[in-house]
Amino acid sequence: MTTFTACPSDRGVLGRIAVPGDKSVSHRALLLAARAEGRSRITGLSVGKDVLATLRAIEQFGAATGRNGDGRLVVDGGAARLKEPESVVDVGNSGTGIRLLAGWSTGIDGLTILTGDESIAARPMGRVVEPLQQMGARIDGRHGGRLPPVIVRGGGLHGIDYRPPVPSAQVKGAILLAGLTAEGETTVREEVPTRAHTEEMLKLCGADVTVSPGAVAVRRSTLSPFDLDVPGDPSQAAFWIVAACITFGSDVTVERVYVGAGRTGFLDVLTRMGADIELVDKDAGSSTATIRARFGPLKATDVGGDEIPALIDEIPALAVAAAYAHGTTTFSGAAELRVKESDRVSSMTAALAAIGADCESRPDGLIVHGGGGRPLPGGAVDSAGDHRIAMAGAVAALPAAGPVVISGWDAVATSYPGFEEEFERCSS
Ligand code: S3P
Repeated sequence: MTTFTACPSDRGVLGRIAVPGDKSVSHRALLLAARAEGRSRITGLSVGKDVLATLRAIEQFGAATGRNGDGRLVVDGGAARLKEPESVVDVGNSGTGIRLLAGWSTGIDGLTILTGDESIAARPMGRVVEPLQQMGARIDGRHGGRLPPVIVRGGGLHGIDYRPPVPSAQVKGAILLAGLTAEGETTVREEVPTRAHTEEMLKLCGADVTVSPGAVAVRRSTLSPFDLDVPGDPSQAAFWIVAACITFGSDVTVERVYVGAGRTGFLDVLTRMGADIELVDKDAGSSTATIRARFGPLKATDVGGDEIPALIDEIPALAVAAAYAHGTTTFSGAAELRVKESDRVSSMTAALAAIGADCESRPDGLIVHGGGGRPLPGGAVDSAGDHRIAMAGAVAALPAAGPVVISGWDAVATSYPGFEEEFERCSS
C-alpha cells in the first residue's frame, strides 16, 4: 500500500521535472543497436523494468552492453554477434517488448522463445503473428499463435504489403523490424497514423526505408551504429501536466519531452478542455519541447475516433483531468484500452469510483461526470498491476479531500521508478 495525500492548500504542484527517457524510443534503440554493425551510444534510456527486460534480451542474443566513462550506455552489435539465445527470453510486463521482439527475432538463426508475466500471458499476439506468418516466418504461440509464450524459428522471410486491422505502432514496428532481413520490400500501410518511432529510428541507423503519407516501406538493410539522446517520455509527462492542471496554485515545467508524430494527442485534448499549457523551447524541425502547465478550470470534452492512437496511453491521466472538470467527458473508440497492462476501461473506472468520482464504463471507453473542480473524497485504489492506473491514482490525490491509498504500487517500476520521490519533491 502506498498513500498519497493532497498538496498543502497554499501551494500547488511546483517545479521543473525531468521525466525518464521515452519507453517506445528506448525499446527500439536497443533492438536496432543490437543489429547495427559496431558501437552505438545511448543516453537517457528509460530506467523502467520494461526497457531493462529488452536490454537483457539483446544481451541474451549476443549484443555486448556496458557503460562508457561518461556513463553512457554502449551497445556493441552486429550480425556476427547475434545468435540463438540459450534460454527463454522473458520480457516481464512489456507488451511493446514482446511484440517488437517477435518481429526482430525472425532475423536470428535458431529458436527464440518469448514469454512474460501473468499480464503478458493475456496480451493478444495474433496481430503480429499473422502478418509475420504471411512473411514466411515460422512463428507460433498458445491458442493458435494468439497468446504468449511465442516461439520463433528465424530466417526465410519475404516482404509483404500489409494494412494492420487495428492501428498499432507495435504491429508496424514488429513487421518493419522483420522486414530488415526479409527478401524484397516490406510495406506497412496505416489509415490512422500511429507513433512514428520505428521509422524515425530506422532512418537514424541508415536503413533502406521510405516514408510516404500513410505508408512505410523497408528493404533488407545493414544498419550503422548511432549516438542517441533519448527524449523525455510524453506519457510520463502527461501525469505531471494533468497534476498541474487540476491542482490549485500549480506551475510545472517538464523538460525536453518528445512531441513528435503520434504522441501529443493528450496536449490537444487538455487544450480543448481549457488547460493553461505552453510549449517552450520548441525549435522548428525539432521533436522535443519543454512543456509548462499551470492550474486553471477545465471543461469537459469528447475524445474519440482517429485521435485515439495518439493518446491511448494517456487516457488514465486524462480521465483524472475529466473527473476534476466541469461537465461530462466521453472517451470512445478506445476498445484497445481493454488489452493493455490491465483492462484499463475496468481498472480506471474502478479507480475513479473508489476515490469518489462519477464514472461509467462502456465497451469501447468511459464516461466521466466531472465534479467541477470540487475535491474528490479520496479512497483505496487497486492498480490492477498497471503502472498507469497507479500513477493516475496518485495524481488524483493532489486536489483530493482525503488520502488515496494505492495497492499494487510496485507496478510503477515498469516505467517510472522515481515517480514517488518526484511526487514528494513537487507537491509538499
Ligand atoms: C507502443 C504502442 C502503443 C502503446 C504502447 C507503446 C509502441 O501500443 O500503447 O504503450 O512503443 O509501439 P499499440 O501498438 O498496441 O497501440
